[in-house]
Parts: sequence; structure tokens; C-alpha cells
Amino acid sequence: MLIESRYAFFRGEIRPIEEANVSILSAVVNYGLAMFEGIRAYWIPERGEALVFRLHDHIDRLRRNGRILMMDLPLSREDLAARVAELLAKEQIRGDAYIRPLLYKAAHEIGPRVHDSPCDLAIFVTPLARYVDTVGGVRAIVSSWRRTADNAIPPRGKITGGYVNAALAKSEAALAGVDDAILLTEAGAVSEGTVSNLFLVRGGRLITPPVTAGILEGITRQTVLTLAAEAGIEVVERVVERSELYVADEVFLTGTATEIAPVVEIDRRAVGGGVPGPVTQRLANEFSRAVHGGSTRHADWCTVVRIG
Ligand SMILES: Cc1ncc(COP(=O)(O)O)c(C=O)c1O
Repeated sequence: MLIESRYAFFRGEIRPIEEANVSILSAVVNYGLAMFEGIRAYWIPERGEALVFRLHDHIDRLRRNGRILMMDLPLSREDLAARVAELLAKEQIRGDAYIRPLLYKAAHEIGPRVHDSPCDLAIFVTPLARYVDTVGGVRAIVSSWRRTADNAIPPRGKITGGYVNAALAKSEAALAGVDDAILLTEAGAVSEGTVSNLFLVRGGRLITPPVTAGILEGITRQTVLTLAAEAGIEVVERVVERSELYVADEVFLTGTATEIAPVVEIDRRAVGGGVPGPVTQRLANEFSRAVHGGSTRHADWCTVVRIG
């Protein structure tokens, strides 16, 4: 999935992508000192508009998480949202798009540290249709790699260097011939997917690991919790054990890139009937309606950008 951006917001301006380069001397390259967001924009062809999903919530998460690495976002909420809209309009993507703000340590210095180290913000936008098979479903393994602990590299921070952990697990899955991996915590509890949160359905109840299970506090996860409550589905946030994955009626992954993806097989065992289940499908339909601007109750989740 190659990035096809023609422009980037870099050093305070939108520039051609060829001018948006950081040095090999920078702390972000040498020590993985950055954090990022992933935001989706859904293309509405009949209106010539992109709907950016929960843009302000993503900006707020980046600002909050910045404290972990002692980084301040250099733009206000409104200014950052305006730069995103400008970039989207400039790229002229007539399809779904992915927006990547990256807050990174720019200093050229030997030795990793987070304090007294300047940071900068870059943003790029690229076309992104489907990231995984949200229709047929995902085949997964439980990774032999453990999710990095909060007191090692906090997964809640969406920290660039922490994604080595996701990359190891994703490659383990791909090389084993399946689509994705599920990570356990050091204590052996279910954490999340490589770039997604995880839900189970057992006896009609929705279950998801708590925010203390080494997860990113996903915005799609939060969206699903809201949609499920509105649909009258009981939701429990609790510790999930590995074998529950094998006996669950349904399992699905959630994330900005992933959207809502049914998991149909885990460790060579069919999940439920081995096909996407009814609760997953119901929530995926509600989600799709919301992100395409079809939910009057949640109209504020979508920021409209005119593409022309
Ligand atoms: C590790 C990890 N967990 C969960 C998620 C899902 O979070 P969100 O729904 O905010 O995209 C992501 C994707 O951004 C992720 O990278």
C-alpha cells in the first residue's frame, strides 16, 4: 500500500512532497521519537465532498498524547483542522483518503531524550480504500510477540518507535499465511490487533479489553461502544483471556484504517460459523452510515471538506 501524496504540510507550510524531507541526523529517524494520528476522509461523489471522520477527536488525542513525549502541538485545533482541509482539497483525491499528522522530534543530536528537544508537525494525505478485507473477513493468529507494556513504550501514545512491535507481529502473521495478528500483554491477556482494537461477541454481549490492556484508546473503538449502546447491545470492557478468542461467537477488529473488520479465523480455528456474524454486520452497517454522514444523531462526527 504505497503512499501517493503530492503535497505535505511541513515546517509551517504546504509544500510539494519533494520538499518535505527530514534529515538522517534527526532524532525521529535515529530514535523513533514521534507520534502520529491516522484519520479517514470518506468521499461522497454525488456532493464532491470528503467527510473527515472525528477530525477534532483525533487532533485532541494527538495533543493529549504529546505530553507523553513532552511535545506540544504547534497549531491550535482550528488551525490544524484547516491545514488538513487545505491539504485534502489540494490533493484532489476522488475516493476515500487517509490523513497522517506526524508530530516528531526534529533535533540533530546524539542520545535519545524527550525533554528540551524541539518538535515539529508534518501532515500528509494519501488515497486509501480498503486496508483489510472487511467483507470476507480477516484470518489471524495470536502473535508470539507480546504487546509492549505501558511502562516500556506506551501503546496508548501512538508512538512511532512502538510500531516496531506491530511490524514484527504483522510480518509474523503475513509470513504464516494469514492477514493479521492479535497481541497479548506480558500477563497473557488479549490486548489488540497490530493496528486495531478488538471486540468479541459472546451470548449477544459485546466484550472488549479495557484501556489498561496495552491498547491504543481507539476512536473507532469509542465509536463502536457508542453505536452498540444506542442499538441496545450490552457492552463490557474487561480482561479477555486467549481461549475466549476460540470460543467467541464473533470477533471483529476496529480502527481508522481497518474500519470494522470481522475476524473469521484465529489460530486455524473458525470463529463462530467461520463467516462474519450478525452483530458485527449490524455494527459495521451503523458505522458505515455514520462515516458517510447518514446519522443525524452524530452529524458532528463528520467535518465536510469541499473537493470540487
Ligand atoms: C495499535 C493500534 N490500536 C488501535 C488502533 C485503532 O485506533 P483508531 O480507531 O483511533 O484508529 C490503531 C490505529 O490507529 C492502532 O495503531
